[in-house]
Amino acid sequence: MSFSGFKEVIEEGDTVILYISVSQIYALEVKPKLISKLGQPVDNVFQTKYGSLRVMDLVGVKFGSRVNLSRGWGHVLYPTPELWTLTLPHRTQILYTPDISMVLTQLEIGPGSVVCEAGTGSGSLSHALLRAIGPSGKLYTCDFHKERVKVAGDEFERHGLGDRVCVSHRDVCVEGLGVSGVADAVFLDLPKPWEALPHAVVAVKDSGGRICSFSPCIEQVSRACEMMASLGLQEITTLECLAREFQVKTISLPVISNDTKPITELQKVKVKDDELQEPSKKLKIDEDSLVESCNKDVLSDENVDDSGVLQERAVQNGVQQKNADVRFRTGITHLKMPGHTGFLTFATVPPGHSRSTGNSATTPLP
Ligand SMILES: C[S@@+](CC[C@H](N)C(=O)[O-])C[C@H]1O[C@@H](n2cnc3c(N)ncnc32)[C@H](O)[C@@H]1O
Repeated sequence: MSFSGFKEVIEEGDTVILYISVSQIYALEVKPKLISKLGQPVDNVFQTKYGSLRVMDLVGVKFGSRVNLSRGWGHVLYPTPELWTLTLPHRTQILYTPDISMVLTQLEIGPGSVVCEAGTGSGSLSHALLRAIGPSGKLYTCDFHKERVKVAGDEFERHGLGDRVCVSHRDVCVEGLGVSGVADAVFLDLPKPWEALPHAVVAVKDSGGRICSFSPCIEQVSRACEMMASLGLQEITTLECLAREFQVKTISLPVISNDTKPITELQKVKVKDDELQEPSKKLKIDEDSLVESCNKDVLSDENVDDSGVLQERAVQNGVQQKNADVRFRTGITHLKMPGHTGFLTFATVPPGHSRSTGNSATTPLP
């Protein structure tokens, strides 16, 4: 067990995260043998670009420690749902942490919550849900793919989460979620969420709750919203989480100059003290507008106000200047940044819904 409660020292049976670099993170199971592709038991030795690691040697090592590989080193980290999402074996498309954090917040999930999920898929969201609900909560998760149900169930057991989750094999669009009137929140990640929504409402407590449907396409969102409205759900809202990475760079922009007349323009110069001490490499953000050289006059200390942030300066030195630049630190995004994973549509199930909307039956869990 290692996901269900924090501990300091690695034991046999734990899952640990081997962190070598941002792009080299692996989940390892601390056990003596693995089953090879040929079905034979083999020693659990993990191979990396920096050499091998005998996984059983981690027993007794503290989480967070640096460990030696045969040609380098890495760190062994405690497995959080966020690290698990980055390292889990993919059996399906999965939800990633930005969307997951929005789901947990918008569904108002916390310790003791009862949550229903369909489908389980690779269990990426399930792990985050299981941490959020804690030992006093309950997750009912289902999938109509039998093998995925089995693998996810085994994984939850190995991760020490078995007592707070019930995994079932069912077609949620036909049989429902298996429970009625118990859920604080329901999450759907399905190709046809509108078919499961009436069942989702049945699962929610009579005092009301929240529902979320994740869909990659806007057409699916549209149909889900129509169904939510027809079921009398309220506060229907669709959100999209888009990551935008800002890199802090020193860039140069040209100061407008006139070849024949003295410069008289009032220039707004955004500079910081530290850049003035040590101007770093220029980033060309626009090949046409940037000028190669740095104007020492513009970047002198006397052009910076006390805050070091903004100064208005009149350049009236009467001297002709060519190719004058101003250099400053700023946040720049990549022009093309892929980010779309899907749309999250949230809705509130009002109190007393079972009298007005919940007409679908559900096949009870065994
Ligand atoms: C994209 S995956 C879910 C991934 C999951 N959210 C995660 O983060 O790992 C969708 C899953 O829904 C299951 N599924 C699709 N239609 C279903 C249905 N009608 N009933 C139950 N499961 C269904 C699929 O088998 C698949 O495993």
